[in-house]
Amino acid sequence: MKTTTVLSALAAAAAVNATPTATLPLKARQTELEPITATGNAFYKGKERFFVRGIDYQPGGAAANVDPLADPEVCKPDIEKFKKLGINTIRVYSTDNSKDHDECMNELAKAGIYVVLDANNPLYSINRDDPHTSYNAIYLQSVFATIDAFAKYPNTMAFFSGNEVIHDHANTTLTARYVKATDRDMRRYIKERKYRKMLVGYSAADVTENRLQTADYFNCGTDEERSDFFAFNDYSWCTSNFVESGWDKKVKNFTGYGLPIFLSEYGCNHNVRDFGELEALMHPNMTSVYSGGLMYEYTMEPNEYGIVKIEGGDKGNRFDQTGKRTELQPEFNNLIKAMKEFPAPKGLAGASTENKASKCPENNDHWIVSSVLPEIPEEALVYFKEGAGKGPGLNGKGSQWAGHVASKSPSNPEGATDGSGSDSSGKDSAAPRGSSPMLFVSGLVTLVTLAGAIAL
Ligand SMILES: *[C@@H]1O[C@H](CO)[C@@H](O)[C@H](O)[C@H]1NC(C)=O
Ligand SMILES: *[C@@H]1O[C@H](CO)[C@@H](O)[C@H](O)[C@H]1NC(C)=O
Ligand SMILES: *[C@@H]1O[C@H](CO)[C@@H](O)[C@H](O)[C@H]1NC(C)=O
Repeated sequence: MKTTTVLSALAAAAAVNATPTATLPLKARQTELEPITATGNAFYKGKERFFVRGIDYQPGGAAANVDPLADPEVCKPDIEKFKKLGINTIRVYSTDNSKDHDECMNELAKAGIYVVLDANNPLYSINRDDPHTSYNAIYLQSVFATIDAFAKYPNTMAFFSGNEVIHDHANTTLTARYVKATDRDMRRYIKERKYRKMLVGYSAADVTENRLQTADYFNCGTDEERSDFFAFNDYSWCTSNFVESGWDKKVKNFTGYGLPIFLSEYGCNHNVRDFGELEALMHPNMTSVYSGGLMYEYTMEPNEYGIVKIEGGDKGNRFDQTGKRTELQPEFNNLIKAMKEFPAPKGLAGASTENKASKCPENNDHWIVSSVLPEIPEEALVYFKEGAGKGPGLNGKGSQWAGHVASKSPSNPEGATDGSGSDSSGKDSAAPRGSSPMLFVSGLVTLVTLAGAIAL
């Protein structure tokens, strides 16, 4: 137990045992956020429906690969900005499972902010070019250690089992079995380690040709195999409205889907960014199917989606995110304004309480993967009993080539095609994938192959 946890525990104990004062019990309660749960197609905070009204938080971008929650000098000034923005959730792409996060997580909890974490990082992830080999015990140890590192915080809302691993070539759908197996294993780990229920799901790329199949894939099969939610990235709203952006169709297509859905990234930047998306996301047009979204993104990086610029950290390089924060206008104030103007609706807002499995998608030109999941690698079973142990952090030896501890299941179960099938070049026109920083899985692999080195 680290200092801040002890302190808040003491504060809580004092609130119960000592002579009560007017302020102490209130303070203690502020840090005890109620965990977020999922029922049917919606999230709940206690009995209240919960909408994700958040921002993607990745100071330094994917290239820096820094954990902003491991350094109070980084997170604290940003949490002040988060409070100003009025958000209730952040997504963090890189977290170091060998480090302590007490201070940042506690500050976020005090601000009423939940955290959604990517359980993968560039060195410990499923490799799109070799998913079978990279789904191995060394990889799972890192994923499970990340769960261990964050399970104790009440404001850990959810984990992403993968980010945009399935992409716009049909052969990338072959990774889906391994990402879904990881998703399944994460849920089992949370259960067997007797942690409170934390949600696990996938964050999909903005690809029209396989978005619906991906959603169905992650919600089909046994209860153990099915995700707790589905999320996708969407950049189609550019100086737009509900109909022009095609969001009306994205509501129609997902109507009846049995899990909560939210946008894990939104916010086209080809336009004046007034974040009109929020009006639609909080409107009855959408709330019976969607549970909000995360605006991409907090810091200004070379791809130009940020609303805050960080400059001049001590060490003056991209790994140092402690520098001065400047709010970028009009975007920063526009987001504050949108958050105020379009609050979360009250009540159920059309949510369905029925938790319904999807039918597994059939194979076609765009979807060529079997729904039979690989068994967990035998060497990873010990983690369920004994825990994952110390996490390797963000700079370990990496897992992608640790094929000796891979699953014994066949890499190509009967019935699946061999991956040489046709590929699709179709994409949503507004998606900024060319300059996207989110593609670390394949992007890094290419980089590593070219450089012939594992270190970033
Ligand atoms: C997938 O297909 C694309 C386009 O045809 C190709 O460039 C890539 O090498 C293929 N990847 C694998 C793993 O087969
Ligand atoms: C909605 O589903 C239809 C039929 O499956 C598909 O053709 C269309 O591209 C989908 N639209 C969106 C926006 O996903
Ligand atoms: C709700 O949907 C209607 C009809 O599709 C559309 O005209 C309207 O602009 C939408 N409202 C919002 C707030 O997006």
